[in-house]
Amino acid sequence: MAGGAGYIGSHVCKALAAEGYLPVTLDDLSSGHAGAVRWGPLVQADIADAAAVAHAVQTHNVVGALHFAAKSLVGESVRDPLKYYRENVGKGVALLEVLQATGVDAILFSSTAAVYGSPAAPAPIREDDPTRPINPYGASKLAFEDALRSSARASGGRCAVLRYFNAAGADSDGELGEDHDPETHLIPLIVRASRGETPPLRVFGDDYDTRDGTPIRDYVHVEDLAAAHLLVLGQLFQGQTELVLNAGAGEGVSVREVLQAAEDCLGRPTPAVVGKRREGDPPMLVADTSRLTALGWAPRKSLQDMISSTAAWREKTGPIASA
Ligand SMILES: NC(=O)c1ccc[n+]([C@@H]2O[C@H](COP(=O)([O-])OP(=O)(O)OC[C@H]3O[C@@H](n4cnc5c(N)ncnc54)[C@H](O)[C@@H]3O)[C@@H](O)[C@H]2O)c1
Repeated sequence: MAGGAGYIGSHVCKALAAEGYLPVTLDDLSSGHAGAVRWGPLVQADIADAAAVAHAVQTHNVVGALHFAAKSLVGESVRDPLKYYRENVGKGVALLEVLQATGVDAILFSSTAAVYGSPAAPAPIREDDPTRPINPYGASKLAFEDALRSSARASGGRCAVLRYFNAAGADSDGELGEDHDPETHLIPLIVRASRGETPPLRVFGDDYDTRDGTPIRDYVHVEDLAAAHLLVLGQLFQGQTELVLNAGAGEGVSVREVLQAAEDCLGRPTPAVVGKRREGDPPMLVADTSRLTALGWAPRKSLQDMISSTAAWREKTGPIASA
C-alpha cells in the first residue's frame, strides 16, 4: 500500500483487512497521517527508497501492490511541473523497478479523471476516449499509467488502473475521513464553511453551459471506491492481465446541487460566494462506469451519505493528528 496513510489508501486498508488481508503501508507521511494506519504495519519511507521497499516486500511476503502515493494538487503542478514529474513519474518508476525485482507482479494504480483533460463533448467519459491532460498533474499520472502498462506487458505482470473521479465521504464507523492540507475538494470545503471553520466557500464560476451554470462532477463515496479496489485486486489475482477502469458513480452533480444537498443534510445553508472560473476547469466530468459495473460493482452510497459522513467525521474526530 504505497500511500496507505492517505485519504483513499487508509479506507482501502480498512476494507482489505475486513477481507482478511494484512495491508502493509509504505508512506512518507508527506500528506498522510500515521493515525490513519490502523489495520497493518506502517513503514515510514519514500516510495523511491529502494532498500525500504524491498525490505517491506520481503519481510511481509507482499503478494500485490496498490499505489496511491502521489502529489495531487493541480494548481501546484502548474507552478512546479518538475515536482510532479519527479514525484509521480520518477519515484513511481523507481517503485515499479523494486516491485518487479522482488517478484510483486500484481499492481493496482490510483489514476485520475484528469488524464482526460477537458473533453469536447459534455457526455459520460469512456476509458477509450482521448487522453489529453491539460495540466502537469494529469500528464504525470498518464505517464505513469503508460510506464506501468508497458512494464507489465514486457515482464508478464498484471496491472490495473483505476481512474478516480471525485472521491468523497468518510468511513461509516467514523474511524477515518478526509484531511488534506490544503484541502481542495468540494464536500470537505462545504462542511468546513458550514461549520464556520473557514470563510465562505468560493464557487469558481456560475456561467458554464450546464443546467445551473456551475460545473458538473461525478462524486463517488470512498467506501464504494474501496470496494472497487477489492474487486479489481481479485480480478488480478484471478489472472486478469490488464484493466483500465473509470471509478465514479456515473452520475453528474453540479456545485449548486451539492450545496443544496448539503443544506438539506446539515439543516443550514453553506455561506458561499461566486468567483471567477478557474482556468482549465471543464464544465462537465462524469464517468461512464460500464466497465466497472460489468465486473459486478455498483455504488451503494448517495451524495447525502458523502456529505453526512464527512460532517459526522469532522464533528466527532476533527482533523487526524499527525504523527
Ligand atoms: N481524492 C480524490 O478525489 C482523487 C481523485 C483522483 C485521483 N486521486 C489519486 O488517488 C491517490 C490518493 O489520493 P488521496 O486523496 O488519498 O491523497 P492523499 O494525499 O491523502 O494520499 C497520498 C498518500 O501518499 C503519500 N505519499 C505521497 N508521496 C509519497 C512518496 N514519495 N513516498 C511515500 N508516500 C508518499 C502521502 O503521505 C499520503 O499518505 C493519489 O494518487 C491521487 O492522485 C485522488
